[in-house]
Amino acid sequence: MKNILKLFVPPLTSIPVQELSAFSFEIIGDIAIVKMPQTDKSKGKIIGEALLRDLRQIRVVLAQKGPIGGEFRIREMEHLAGEARTTTVHKEYGCSFLIDLSGVYFSPRLSTERIRVADLVKPGEYVLNMFAGVAPFSILIAKKQPHCRIVEVELNEVAHSLARENAVRNKVSGRIEQIHGDTRRVLEGIQGKFDRVLVPLPERSFEFLESAITSIKRQGGWIHLYVHIHGRSNADAIESAKIRVEEPLRERGSLRYSRVVKGIGPGWYQIVTDLEIYPTERA
Ligand SMILES: C[S@@+](CC[C@H](N)C(=O)[O-])C[C@H]1O[C@@H](n2cnc3c(N)ncnc32)[C@H](O)[C@@H]1O
Repeated sequence: MKNILKLFVPPLTSIPVQELSAFSFEIIGDIAIVKMPQTDKSKGKIIGEALLRDLRQIRVVLAQKGPIGGEFRIREMEHLAGEARTTTVHKEYGCSFLIDLSGVYFSPRLSTERIRVADLVKPGEYVLNMFAGVAPFSILIAKKQPHCRIVEVELNEVAHSLARENAVRNKVSGRIEQIHGDTRRVLEGIQGKFDRVLVPLPERSFEFLESAITSIKRQGGWIHLYVHIHGRSNADAIESAKIRVEEPLRERGSLRYSRVVKGIGPGWYQIVTDLEIYPTERA
């Protein structure tokens, strides 16, 4: 998220600086998304036109009207300037993702996390991505580690269909099994166990931690659990996440790494925890 004030003080003098400082924006593909829950449309248009004029890669400016929400984690959007569309292609670490912002979740702020996890995957691993979205994690893993197989699950039909298209677009469709459905139900029908499980649904990930643990192979493995958690500071939030995972892990595993992925509001953080699950018998 970039603050609009840094970019536009001189050309946007018709909007008071104090008001302007409340706006931030992010860029996905060639679309700029401005966070402006309660702004009148005329101010939105001024900001939209300024972004179009000053950022050469931008073709569309949308306003995000409220927080990301609902089961599919979608944002309510309004068109501000430029072409009238919500689809774009976002490029990240040599991969390209077709995204429809009106119907799916996508955050460029998770790109560091995606490459970090992809770099941890070893040859031959069998990986489960419990919440695929348009498949950025799965595709990056498949690209970085050509000798692994991935199973991903996604409930939102629009996201699932874009994920399939993205796997083809990035030439990895042969190595990702892409399942449309509710992770909980899908897991009941999956026979195999995994070396690594991704749980990127931070609002509800604790509900799925037990399933993630029991999805790991007897030889042990890793879980990347994304959580939303309150804290007075980064360190405090990380400590709270550590305490939250201790009980469900019990003697079955340990927290090996955690960090703040992003701030999501005052005193409210997204944290990733890497959990090592111990072998349950000698491999
Ligand atoms: C926070 S997004 C993560 C998407 C993706 N991992 C990424 O990095 O862009 C969570 C995704 O989980 C999906 N989802 C929510 N509940 C689900 C469920 N019960 N089973 C499968 N997918 C679900 C949502 O539709 C959404 O696409």
